[in-house]
Amino acid sequence: MTFKQPDLPFALSDLTPWVSEEQMDYHFNKHHAGYYKKLNGLVDGKPESELSLRDLVVQSKGGVFNNAGQAWNHAFFWSCLSPSGGGKPSSEVMQAIVRDFGSYDAFCQAFSDAAAALFGSGWAWLASDAQGKLEIMPLSNADTPLKYGKEPILTLDVWEHAYYIDYRNRRPDFIEGFWDVVNWQFANDMYSQLKK
Ligand SMILES: [Fe+2]
Repeated sequence: MTFKQPDLPFALSDLTPWVSEEQMDYHFNKHHAGYYKKLNGLVDGKPESELSLRDLVVQSKGGVFNNAGQAWNHAFFWSCLSPSGGGKPSSEVMQAIVRDFGSYDAFCQAFSDAAAALFGSGWAWLASDAQGKLEIMPLSNADTPLKYGKEPILTLDVWEHAYYIDYRNRRPDFIEGFWDVVNWQFANDMYSQLKK
C-alpha cells in the first residue's frame, strides 16, 4: 500500500484574495504532492507502509518522518482553512481559548506573533494536552504536536513555499489574512472529540 494525498476540501481558487490560485496550485500540487511522492519512495514495500500516516508520523525519524510529517501536516492544514471561514469560534474551543489565553484577541495576537517569529521553516500550532489545556506551539520544519503527545487543534504553515508567490517576504501579512479564512468549525470538532 502507498500513501495517497487526500483531495483539497475546496477549489484551488477558493481562498483568494488570501492566497491566489497559483500559490495554492504550487503548494498543493507541487509541495504537498511531493512529500507523498518522496514518502512512498522511501517506504514502498517496507513494514512502515502498512501503518496509518498518523502512526508513521509518531513512530518515524529522519527522512521518513520529514516526508510523513509534511504529508500529514498539510492535510490537517487544508482542513483548518475554509472559503467561508473567519469570524470567531462560538463553542467549546472558544471557552477553552478564553480560559487558557485570557481572550480571543489575546490568543490571536500570541498565535500570530509565534508564527511571525518562527525562524526558518515551520508551523504554528494550537494544540491540546490530554486534559484539554491549550497551548501555542511554534515548531520547525515537519515537527508536530503529535511528537509531544499533544493533539493538534489548528495550524498555520509558515514555510516560505506557503506564501512566497503572493507575499514575497511579507510573512506577517500572510499571517494576518489567515484569520479571514480560519475554519473554527474544524478546530472545534478537533477539540470537542478529545477525551478530556
Ligand atoms: Fe506547506
